[in-house]
Amino acid sequence: MSDQKTVAVADHYNAVVEDYHLNYDDEAHKTLPHYPANYFRLQILKKEVAALGAKSIYEAGMGEGTPLAHMAEMGLRVAGSDIADNMVAAAKANFTRRGLNPDVIQIGNIDKPESFANQMEGGLFDAMMASGVLPHVANDEQAMRNMGAIVRPGGTVFIEFRNKMFSLFTMNRFTKEFILDDLLDGVPAPLRDATASELDARLATDMPPARTTNIDGAGPGYDLIQANYHNPLELLEQFKKLGFSDMKIHWYHFHPAPPMLESAIGPAFREAAMAMEYDQSWRGMFLCSAGVVQAVRGEA
Ligand SMILES: C[S@@+](CC[C@H](N)C(=O)[O-])C[C@H]1O[C@@H](n2cnc3c(N)ncnc32)[C@H](O)[C@@H]1O
Repeated sequence: MSDQKTVAVADHYNAVVEDYHLNYDDEAHKTLPHYPANYFRLQILKKEVAALGAKSIYEAGMGEGTPLAHMAEMGLRVAGSDIADNMVAAAKANFTRRGLNPDVIQIGNIDKPESFANQMEGGLFDAMMASGVLPHVANDEQAMRNMGAIVRPGGTVFIEFRNKMFSLFTMNRFTKEFILDDLLDGVPAPLRDATASELDARLATDMPPARTTNIDGAGPGYDLIQANYHNPLELLEQFKKLGFSDMKIHWYHFHPAPPMLESAIGPAFREAAMAMEYDQSWRGMFLCSAGVVQAVRGEA
């Protein structure tokens, strides 16, 4: 990743730190202006980490630290790092407020393992989680390798990704991009052009508008920073190639209708979405905008 992009990612997150903890509040998450996807992700992570019986967990990109604090409160040895200095400061304050050790938190960049190597001195971890990090790295495989190297052989990684397959359900410019650039990659130009015209006539290709600032106008918006979507099927292949095994995907942030219908449908949209969370059938691959890959590091 170029340093310029890294700064923009940090700027984006530095500007959203203040209310971030509300995403994880058992009551407040229900009335947030945005969908409380992070809340559901945390419930999945806690359940899976408990099921593993992991005794230690590292978080790359731990943000303001609430998910990591939950893991510490479950009795795990924890440590974490993040590139955004406001997030690191908030996470330290969060840990201190909860009576946890703030020294396990520091600045670190997953692209630069030397920036957090000191945190491995007490031994590699049983598990590692990275939520909101893979979308922002320039070299997926290098980041996945660096994440894998944080856990002991046989340890488990939980890596969140933005789901490209969801584009088939959104019926907007993302659908057009996915069909032309991914599904029809390599197909002769006249066929792609004919498909493009057809899609322009049928889809809302002017939607969604680009997010150039954060909700409160502070900091660069999500569409200005490096923020990649991943095809889950390709991602699983990449994990396999890197020597991981026992992969599964946990889906979250369900959509009961294409997102552009949300304002017309009103509160019933969110209610139906929340009722669908934790469904782990095949539908998540198309109805969820995000997922978490769980994978076991190989012995080598
Ligand atoms: C969407 S937030 C999520 C924070 C936290 N993981 C959570 O689940 O609440 C993503 C975090 O990853 C951090 N991040 C992004 N790219 C990173 C990188 N290359 N190395 C370390 N942290 C990174 C951001 O600064 C941000 O705090």
